[in-house]
Amino acid sequence: MTNLAVEQPSPCATPAALRALIESRRAVRRFTSEQVPDAIIRDCLELAVLAPNSCNLQPWSFQVVRDPQLLSQLHHVCMSQNAAKAPLIIAVLARPDTWRQACQNVIDYWPEADVPERIRHFYRTTAPFQYNQGPFGLLGLCKRQLLRLAALRKPLMRAPNSLAQMRLWAVKSTALAAENLMLAFQSHGYATCPMEGFDEVRLRQTLDIPRQAIPIMLLAVGKQGDKAIYNPRLRFPLEQHVTWL
Ligand SMILES: Cc1cc2nc3c(=O)[nH]c(=O)nc-3n(C[C@H](O)[C@H](O)[C@H](O)COP(=O)(O)O)c2cc1C
Repeated sequence: MTNLAVEQPSPCATPAALRALIESRRAVRRFTSEQVPDAIIRDCLELAVLAPNSCNLQPWSFQVVRDPQLLSQLHHVCMSQNAAKAPLIIAVLARPDTWRQACQNVIDYWPEADVPERIRHFYRTTAPFQYNQGPFGLLGLCKRQLLRLAALRKPLMRAPNSLAQMRLWAVKSTALAAENLMLAFQSHGYATCPMEGFDEVRLRQTLDIPRQAIPIMLLAVGKQGDKAIYNPRLRFPLEQHVTWL
């Protein structure tokens, strides 16, 4: 049996190459009509889901929209903003509702012949206890009260223990996947624009988004068009955001 846990990471991108990729990504608001090949979309999605994620429960899903009629409806849903006139839009959804199936998936898809007992125990017992908030979040409420007492003695993880915290929990990991997705397209020479400027109610109807899924952004993708970047790059001085301790 190979011991995957002790494998060293192989040499990867140089700091300069990574910097160049990250620096080259901009929010692009105008695209050409050139289609994005499915093989590239797939490659980028494979990189998106390599994002680190909480407990490896991968609480995300993606709807890949290429159909011209649906794209035109999405343009309307996005209040006709330029960025939404793209040959490809990917709806990036956070999934606070898929943890139970994901616990089973970890066991079913474990990449070794034998699932270690600690893994089986964690995903059969510990994780379900941690993520189940019960009907209307009532179990979460009980857990919060118990935790407040138990945490008087030792440090304990206080969240997620409500339905709202579950949503935040899923959004965190999904946002990391979204960034991977944008950088992956960038590496293939395709530009992107993340969009939260959409009518969520209409979006849910148009794409038949599951009730508990949270559309965190629509990602417009395509070849960069003319006058596609509206403003020069602007970031505030690092000192405003960083504390060195
Ligand atoms: C969550 C999120 C939502 C955004 N929504 C929109 C949007 O609806 N329309 C748009 O044109 N740009 C949108 N943007 C792009 C930002 O305006 C852009 O990233 C920011 O101005 C910085 O520019 P840069 O990405 O080129 O560095 C969004 C970005 C993020 C991360």
